Amino acid sequence: MNQEHTPEEQAAAWIKESSSTVVFTGAGMSTESGIPDFRSKNGLWTKTDPMEVASAEAMNQQYDLFHEFYTLRFKTLERCHPHKGHEILAAWERRGLVDAIVTQNVDGFHQQAGSQKVYELHGALKKVCCIDHGHQATSDDFIMGKRCVCGSRLRPGVVLFGEMLPQDAWKKAIEVIQQASVLLVIGTSLQVSPVNQLPLMTAGKTIFINQEMVPAASGYDLVIKGKAGDIICHLNDLLCGGSS
Ligand code: OAD
Repeated sequence: MNQEHTPEEQAAAWIKESSSTVVFTGAGMSTESGIPDFRSKNGLWTKTDPMEVASAEAMNQQYDLFHEFYTLRFKTLERCHPHKGHEILAAWERRGLVDAIVTQNVDGFHQQAGSQKVYELHGALKKVCCIDHGHQATSDDFIMGKRCVCGSRLRPGVVLFGEMLPQDAWKKAIEVIQQASVLLVIGTSLQVSPVNQLPLMTAGKTIFINQEMVPAASGYDLVIKGKAGDIICHLNDLLCGGSS
């Protein structure tokens, strides 16, 4: 790294020069919107065992607990909105500064903020369907505990522990990440496989933005410690004079 540059200045210079920038986000991208992450101090998995509430086994064997957990997540989502950082990433796509977003998040905030090319590796909470046949239903149907017309119970459209990732999104994510000349990884502990393998697949420059350091950060070309929204705003000042 050029020592005359701050990490943010270096990141902005790489993004400016890049022929293809891909952004890879995790739960830390949405905590400033009010959605808790999973593994930091107040994360969901510090209070609840994911296998008890967010696994295929939980859905099939203790539906009430599963339903209660996801109802809470829907209610949290109803109160929250994308923040300035989501909006800036969408504006960067419109300006040609970002090619695609690959996300582990299920809140739909990137699309809500205007991003077009988004690959959701862990599904989308609001894509409710029935467990047995995949018939579509609504979030309200799920929250109210309704069943599908076919009689099956409902589930949110998220990938549960023990389930495969959506293969289309996975393949597209690999494709864009392999072609990227800059990969910006934001707000993830990089603990969950197989998605934590994706950043290793790029030949481009790698930038890691997170509020705390995690072991995998040591492999990155550039690390910026701080809040996702603040850092994205700072980068936007450097790249676009603050406009979005
Ligand atoms: P984690 O909770 O594991 O990691 C989130 C990371 O973001 C932590 O390192 C936090 O320190 C950091 N963070 C929190 N707020 C931040 C902020 N405002 N700015 C910057 N960093 C911040 O979440 P993920 O890595 O996304 O999977 O978790 C991956 C998957 O594990 C999730 O998609 C979910 C979960 O089980 C499924 O549900 C399938």
